[in-house]
Amino acid sequence: MGYAFERAPFLFVRSIFCVSLIQVTRIYLDNAATSYPKPETVYAAVDHYQRHIGVAVGRGAYREATTAQRMLDQCRQSAARLLRAESPDRIVFTLNGTDSLNMALMGVCRPGDHVITTEFEHNSVLRPLRWLKDHRGINVTVLRPETNGQIDPSQVRSEIRPTTRLVAVQQASNVTGTVQPIEEICAIARQANVLTLVDAAQSAGHLPIDLGQLPIDLLACPGHKGLLGPLGTGLLYVRSGIEQAMTPYRLGGTGTQSEDDRQPDAMPDRLEAGNHNAPGLAGLAAGLAFLEEHTVTALQLAEAELTARLVQGLREIPGVTVYGHQPAAPSVGVMSFNITGFAPHEAASILDDSFGIQARAGLHCAPGVHRFLETFDNGGTIRFSVGAFTSIQDIEQALAGVRELTGA
Ligand SMILES: Cc1ncc(COP(=O)(O)O)c(C=O)c1O
Repeated sequence: MGYAFERAPFLFVRSIFCVSLIQVTRIYLDNAATSYPKPETVYAAVDHYQRHIGVAVGRGAYREATTAQRMLDQCRQSAARLLRAESPDRIVFTLNGTDSLNMALMGVCRPGDHVITTEFEHNSVLRPLRWLKDHRGINVTVLRPETNGQIDPSQVRSEIRPTTRLVAVQQASNVTGTVQPIEEICAIARQANVLTLVDAAQSAGHLPIDLGQLPIDLLACPGHKGLLGPLGTGLLYVRSGIEQAMTPYRLGGTGTQSEDDRQPDAMPDRLEAGNHNAPGLAGLAAGLAFLEEHTVTALQLAEAELTARLVQGLREIPGVTVYGHQPAAPSVGVMSFNITGFAPHEAASILDDSFGIQARAGLHCAPGVHRFLETFDNGGTIRFSVGAFTSIQDIEQALAGVRELTGA
């Protein structure tokens, strides 16, 4: 605190200098929160929908209603293709990653069930589980990762009990980027007849996901992060038959079987009631088309190179501690660090004010990761996360900004 205070006048002067003489460009490194910018086609699709289509999907037979339905169908088909889901009707549209996770957790957990999860999960998993524990009497086992941040799959095996209903695990951390061995974890669960929920918030669009190969029952994805759609979009993949084991999360109009006061059984209507965020889904369809065109594998490679440079560059700066990104554990383009003498929020706000570098500081809604990293008491970490439109120039400028901040 004292150290940072002594530096404040210097930084204030620098801040004025940067803002007044040099146009501070925006270096957006908060793609783990939501991707920005989006492909131009995403903006165009949302605008087109709002101005020229504008109708509710599945509720009319006139021309625009048919166009809207086609757009929604295409979006579902693209999502199913990208994830290699068995059919488009396994994709349920939601509001965001949190909504998808709630639908899955609230849907499958019954009183007395046991759930296995990990310390690295986001509050969008931990809070619903806590609520289910308090209100539906479920039992929760929280696994601690190994020192490299990965869960040892054999831990999952040894925690499975006769009452275990679900293993809920993230594919990649939103703090360190660490990728979990989900294939092994889910295979162990499948062998024991236990359902699996994978939180793909930080992996969908960043890593290839093949639901034809992976023994995953439920996969929750935001539409607005790696899938490049607008905020307010998300999806939940539900493996065939699993919906029968799910309590509905929301009920209501679907535009189908309207004579019946019971929710239709057929997917996705069974889990998808009420008007869709159609402008958002038009944007998501364009985001998915971008991913198909450019391929997730190519984007993954590009993001891996940028991340490697970022991690290496930060590690070379005296006073900077980088968390995670150990060679023994694969990761996505999310990384956390701290700077000696600066609280994470303070450093992040100076990086933005003085250099236009936009990072996210704090606990990132994942307090368990910060307890694991021992960064909890210090207010967490500063997080950089790259995306489809991050350039090597962005990375070099970010490194230069951190170097200046530390005085290195
Ligand atoms: C790992 C993880 N899970 C879930 C979520 C929640 O997603 P959303 O912001 O779309 O609700 C996030 C968001 O950052 C996340 O990083």
